[in-house]
Amino acid sequence: MGEVVIEVKAPGEGEPDFVAIPFPEGNTEGAFSNGARELDGRFKGRLQRLADSGDLKGELGTTVVLHTDGELNARRVVVAGIGKKEEVDADALRTAASAVADRVADVGGTLAWLLDDSLPLPLAVQARAIVEGTMLGSYSPARWKTQEKPAARVEKIVLYTTAGNGLAESASRIATVGKWVNFARDLANSPPNELTPEALAMRAAELAGPTLAVEALDSARIDELGMGALSAVGRASSNGPRLIVLRYEPARATREDLVLGLVGKAITFDAGGISLKPALKMQDMKGDMAGGAAVIAAMAAVAELELPVRIVAVVAAAENLVSGDSFRPGDILRAANGKTIEITNTDAEGRLVLADALWYARREGATHVLDLATLTGAMELALGDFYAGLFANEEGWLHEVLAAAKTSGDHAWPFPLHPRYRRYVDSSFADLKNSSDLRQGSPVLAAEFLREFSGEGPWAHIDMAGPGFLERSRGDYLTQRGGTGYGVRLIVELAQSLSS
Ligand code: BES
Ligand code: MN
Ligand code: ZN
Repeated sequence: MGEVVIEVKAPGEGEPDFVAIPFPEGNTEGAFSNGARELDGRFKGRLQRLADSGDLKGELGTTVVLHTDGELNARRVVVAGIGKKEEVDADALRTAASAVADRVADVGGTLAWLLDDSLPLPLAVQARAIVEGTMLGSYSPARWKTQEKPAARVEKIVLYTTAGNGLAESASRIATVGKWVNFARDLANSPPNELTPEALAMRAAELAGPTLAVEALDSARIDELGMGALSAVGRASSNGPRLIVLRYEPARATREDLVLGLVGKAITFDAGGISLKPALKMQDMKGDMAGGAAVIAAMAAVAELELPVRIVAVVAAAENLVSGDSFRPGDILRAANGKTIEITNTDAEGRLVLADALWYARREGATHVLDLATLTGAMELALGDFYAGLFANEEGWLHEVLAAAKTSGDHAWPFPLHPRYRRYVDSSFADLKNSSDLRQGSPVLAAEFLREFSGEGPWAHIDMAGPGFLERSRGDYLTQRGGTGYGVRLIVELAQSLSS
């Protein structure tokens, strides 16, 4: 799915292929908004009769399609269940929009969505949710099937409202972000034989433009800079590691003293190394680069939107394999910041590559850092597929990231850092070890480990092991197994809030 055109029109204008009308669950009395009643007037009251007869339930995610036989200027009406009116939030509308996108997938074309001023959501929030739900809901991960018949595309979304001042512009920007979310999903879904660290670096390089500089440091350069942790993790694979660096320099920055530093984990395949993972579901570890993919895609989005904030992004790409040249449990590595790390588990590789990437981001002038990583299985056990865990070394920064998470729909929940946890990554031989044999608090210990490499200034860490890559449909607007693009919307929202 590429670009989607956004327009705002008065209800009933134009000749869309579909018009989607939101319908809440519960009493049918007053279930239709003024706009819907007006459309229904032209449709000879058919919708109201359908509602009265009890055929419209309004359950979230359900749809009913009616052909208009020329009575309306739209060829078909899709009544979209949005659940209980008082419970409608942005995620509910995303889900409803995704269900509609699924219903129109055989035809595609122009989809008009009636905004509803009786909902407890501002029109701009509704518009955003509808664009996101449509675009993310119609994503297909089946790019590698040879027989797949591609779904017809929704090419245009028309927002039906009479109060749409500035809505077309803001909703178009959301569509731009949606396109890059799906780009991140493509990267996460790419098989690891195709998407090696070098290939990921090449995909990033293709995004370079007048305000976006992209470079990739190879193994030799990584060693030269003393990045012993990233180097060791990437060493077993013949597809060597890359440190992918993207710099966004807008023509004008709102805050000259601020450089946002984004750091992403991009393990293009995580076999676990010598501490080998079990075979079951190991194939999903192609998605262990989802944090890095989100960072790369978000940089492209920010550049396209020309947000006035300086950003440096550092993506640590490597493949964690087993070979005669693997790093081992017992090895002691020296990270770029000079700290020594005893390896106790080669499957705790994410924190190792991030250690060096965090150092590099600070070296490149990042003042406020956010890293994103599919870091621990225990984070997924704790929060499932919806929330990511958020850690930060500073209250203000925590809340800044938290607010961006909430608005964007990439949900995050705060988790603690505390010096008392540090002793669990103490090593008898080195400055610290990379995993604890206590099976407790693993996401927190990983964050404490990262803190040692986060340098001076605000730093936040998102463990997106749950929502970054889905084992199965989430049953909302993320209906597909695989990469979700988690983090792209959050980063763009954060960049936006830092520049206004
Ligand atoms: N990439 C995994 C974490 C992961 C697991 C992400 C499942 C998504 C789904 C990470 O590199 C890892 O293996 N972590 C270990 C750390 C442990 C050895 C301390 C884990 O969580 O088991
Ligand atoms: Mn691992
Ligand atoms: Zn991993």
